[in-house]
Amino acid sequence: MKITVAKNEREFDEMAAWRIIGQMLQKQDAVIGLSTGNTTKNMHQIVSEIYGLHPFDTSGVYLFNVDELTNLPRTYAGSCYAMIKSQICDSLHIPEERFIMPQTMCDDFDAECRIFERQLSKLGGVDLQMLGIGWNGHIGINQPGTPFGSNTWVSPMDDIFEARVREETKVADDYPLGGLTLGIKTIMMSKKIVLIAKGKEKAEIIKKAVEGPVTEEIPASVLQLHPNCEVLIDGEAASLLGTVNK
Ligand code: GLP
Repeated sequence: MKITVAKNEREFDEMAAWRIIGQMLQKQDAVIGLSTGNTTKNMHQIVSEIYGLHPFDTSGVYLFNVDELTNLPRTYAGSCYAMIKSQICDSLHIPEERFIMPQTMCDDFDAECRIFERQLSKLGGVDLQMLGIGWNGHIGINQPGTPFGSNTWVSPMDDIFEARVREETKVADDYPLGGLTLGIKTIMMSKKIVLIAKGKEKAEIIKKAVEGPVTEEIPASVLQLHPNCEVLIDGEAASLLGTVNK
């Protein structure tokens, strides 16, 4: 793993934004996976701003998000579809047919998972996956204990996140919610992965993911085995790393 530590949050956001732009400039039909969350909001904004100032060719670029909530309409502002569309697709003029996302409402999510995977592989696979990390080490929505061999599937969500979604959407406690996510194996098939994290609340999990044992209990630790993975973090998220702070 290559570890890059940004001096501060602003530098982190800019460096991460340039990983996305760089991939688009390098390969005009790049297939790029994104992640939602607080970590990525600013970087998406910066990509949009730079495109606004100095437009580049996005006419062949494909975007998707690593995961999506199930059983809530795409119009819910917390759906990954809605967030990625408004944060980056619209400003970069990525049309619907080059924004690859699973359906959020459907009768057969297993089939939807296969369709999602097939679409990405028909495009030649994922060139770049920008990957956030959850407080418990989850990547996409793959929670601790998810087998490293998992394909794209509907995973349970972490309790804190699920509680927030239920609160926001006011769905009943027994209404089935899940997270359709690229599986760990599917994520590992990306040609390049950039794991991104900022802030001191991510320091502990970054240490476990980067320096701890490779274990299914910390899904992100599998990235230690990826041949082309960069860990891009700010100083706070890097603060417990022995390798960086020696
Ligand atoms: C959610 C998303 C993940 C994301 C994670 C980190 O769980 N499904 O894809 O990586 O949040 O979120 P944040 O950046 O807000 O910490």
